[in-house]
Formats: sequence, C-alpha cells, structure tokens
Amino acid sequence: MPAEFTMTVTVAPATALQGVVRVPGDKSMSHRYAMLAALAEGVTRISHYAPGNDCQSTLRCLEQLGTVVSRHSALDRGTGATVSTIQIVGRGLRGLQSPQADLDCGNSGSTLRMLAGILAAHPFTSVLTGDHSLRRRPMTRVVTPLRQMGAGLTAADGKPPVTVTGGPLRPVAYRPDTPSAQVKTAVLLAGLQTNGVTTVEEPAATRDHTERALRAFGARVLVDGLSVSINGGQRLTGRTLAVPGDPSSAAFFACAAAALPGSFIEMREVGLNPSRTAIFDVLRRFGADVDVQVDRIDAEEPVGRVRVRHRGLTALELTPADVPGLIDELPVLAALATHGGELRVTGAAELRAKESDRISALVNGLRALGADADELPDGFHVRGSRRLLGGAVDAADDHRLAMAFAVAGLGALEPTVIRGADAVNVSYPGFFDVLASLRP
Ligand code: S3P
Repeated sequence: MPAEFTMTVTVAPATALQGVVRVPGDKSMSHRYAMLAALAEGVTRISHYAPGNDCQSTLRCLEQLGTVVSRHSALDRGTGATVSTIQIVGRGLRGLQSPQADLDCGNSGSTLRMLAGILAAHPFTSVLTGDHSLRRRPMTRVVTPLRQMGAGLTAADGKPPVTVTGGPLRPVAYRPDTPSAQVKTAVLLAGLQTNGVTTVEEPAATRDHTERALRAFGARVLVDGLSVSINGGQRLTGRTLAVPGDPSSAAFFACAAAALPGSFIEMREVGLNPSRTAIFDVLRRFGADVDVQVDRIDAEEPVGRVRVRHRGLTALELTPADVPGLIDELPVLAALATHGGELRVTGAAELRAKESDRISALVNGLRALGADADELPDGFHVRGSRRLLGGAVDAADDHRLAMAFAVAGLGALEPTVIRGADAVNVSYPGFFDVLASLRP
C-alpha cells in the first residue's frame, strides 16, 4: 500500500520547553457544527473552525450534498495566528441534495460515520469512501443501527465504501456494544429525522459534543445517565459559534511540558468539556503539575486555560474504565512514559481500529527509537527507565502517532527522524513549527 504521507521531519532533543500556545479549533466540535449547520434553517458562522484535512473533508462532502459553504481567513492580531471562519447556509432537515460523485471522507472516520446517520434519512443513494486508512476501518457499528431504523446500507466486509440508500426512518432504542461518540452521533442525527423518540444507551460515557451542539442549535435533548434521547422533527436554527481549541491537540504540549525538566507551557482558549479533560487529570496522576481553569461557557461548552509544569513522572496503570475518556490521548501518554515514567494500559483494543493499528504501530515506533515497550492484545506497557536513542520512525499515516513520536523524541540522545510527518495535517497543520517555537 503506498504511504499517504511522505514528508520527513527531524525533531532534535530538547532540554526544556516554555511558552504559550493556542491550539487549533476542536476537530470533534467542528465536524458537528458544520453538519448541524447544514441541517439547520438559516445561516451559521463558525470561527476557529478546525484547519486540518479531516474537517475540510466534512465541508467538501457537505458541498457535494448541495450545501453552500464559504471560507474566510483573517489574521488574529493578538496571537498572529490565522483564524478560519466558515459560513454555512442551512438546507433544513432532510434538505440535502443527491451528490454527483462518491463522497470522499479522506482520513476522517468521524465524517463518514456521522454523515451516514444524516444521509440515512435522505431519499437518494450516496457512497461514502476515503483514503486507504479509512477503508480498513470498521463501519458495521453504524451500518447495524441505521439499518434497524429502516435505511439501506451496505459495506463489503463492514468497511468503506459504505453505500447509503436513505428514506423515511423509524425511531430506535439502540445500545451499542462499543462506546463510540461517532456511533451515538450517527444514531441521534438519524433520530432527529424521524417522527418519534430515538434513544442511545451507551456502555460507557463518551464525548457529549453532539448533545451540547444540538442544544446550541435549538433542539431539546434528554440525558439520563448513559442514555440520550432526541425527539425527531425538531428544527435547528443557524447561529454564530466559536470553536475552542482542541484538548486532544493541547495534550501533545501538555505531555511535552510534563516530560522535560524546567518546562512550563500554558495553553489558552482550550475546550474543557468534562468528557474530554481526563487527559489533564491523568497527567496529574502521572506526576505533572497541572492547573486547569475554566474561563467561560460558550454554546454549552466550557473554555479555558491549561498550565502544565514538569515535576517528574511515576508509574501509572490505566484500566479499561479509563480508556473511553482518553482514547485519543493514549499514544502521547505512551510517548510521555519514555521520559522516565512507566505506563501500562489495558482495555484499549479499540486503538487497533483507529487511523492506524495504534497499538502495534505505536509500540513498534517507540521501540525503533530505543524504548522498552511491549504490545498487549488490548493495550501496551512502556517502561521509561532508559533514555531513548533517537533514530528513524514511521508515523504509519497516523497524525497522532506523528505527534506522539515527536514528544518521545524530545528526550532522546540523538535526533528523531519522523517519516510521514505530514500526517499532522489531518488535525494540526503547523504542529512542528509550534513545537519548535517553544524551545529556548
Ligand atoms: C470522535 C470520537 C472518537 C475519537 C475520534 C473522534 C468524535 O472515536 O477517537 O477521534 O468526534 O466523536 P469513536 O467514536 O470511534 O470512539
């Protein structure tokens, strides 16, 4: 299989990192805001829309479905960063148009799974596909509930391309086997387009951006413990929104600060939704000095700052109950463990179904840099008692692995050469420049 990403970046060892960072807009929220905006009535303006390829894939798919999207970039004088604002003219519930070609979701599982929920209610056939990484990811988890609701979905071997033939849907009470915010969202968005009450009861809590975003667009959503219900037919209203910084991107700097003696990094305007902040609690358990402060609530979402200071690392064990809240941060926690800590994770077999097999590619990559790391069937064990050597490592076409290997490499004896480092463009274009700017 040809590599999707081909650029190489070299990360030199670092002593300490210091500075203030504003990470890009949250990827999960950007997808949801764009999709709800397309289903809403009226115009929605979204500032700090996530700049990575994944959220651009969502916009392109929505355009292919007849949605008018305009993009505007301006320089923020305060931070010197480019702020991307998106304007979407809503088409109303079930108002999307039949696409002329397959919908290319690129590398983005969120785009494919959540759009499947929306398209399930539309009276036409569409094909959702993506790059070679996305085409190996499991889709039965959305195909099954959407079929139960009455849509026609097919996916050979349960993998993309997924063909969706939509139409009138029945409401459903659905209990997914695996905790997944994408599946919950797909079912709720399909449920919004029925004439009754749809309920999803999760096996464990997952990020709740969809529930909050639906409310921000004017819908009523009932949450009772692990069960979420929505009444079909509620109309959404377009609005103005600002996306806070992505805590999963902030996690790389938080871990870098926790890794290197003398480091102190402050991240501002970070999304602090409690379903995403487990990383900061776990960093504290791992030994770091972490201060989290909520500054305001914006469109139902807490936003604030995170300060992380190095204070040494201990041994940490993460159990299956910890995993759903940390699923995207496990690779960088493994990288952090190489800086003199120890980390054992179990109950995370789901990592094998991400942009890469994030257990084997992570452990192989850390080992290539000299780490003492083992793969477990459902997790990994990293012992950071010896310093990494550095060397060459393959990002395995996975944005989070490219950034995790950079954090690991900061503590190595020799430079770390990351192949396929441009995978960071999936969620964080400019990551390596920001990392370099924190060096003294
Ligand atoms: C996401 C949910 C998680 C996460 C992914 C984004 C979302 O995936 O890993 O990066 O935005 O809902 P799953 O739903 O597959 O757990």
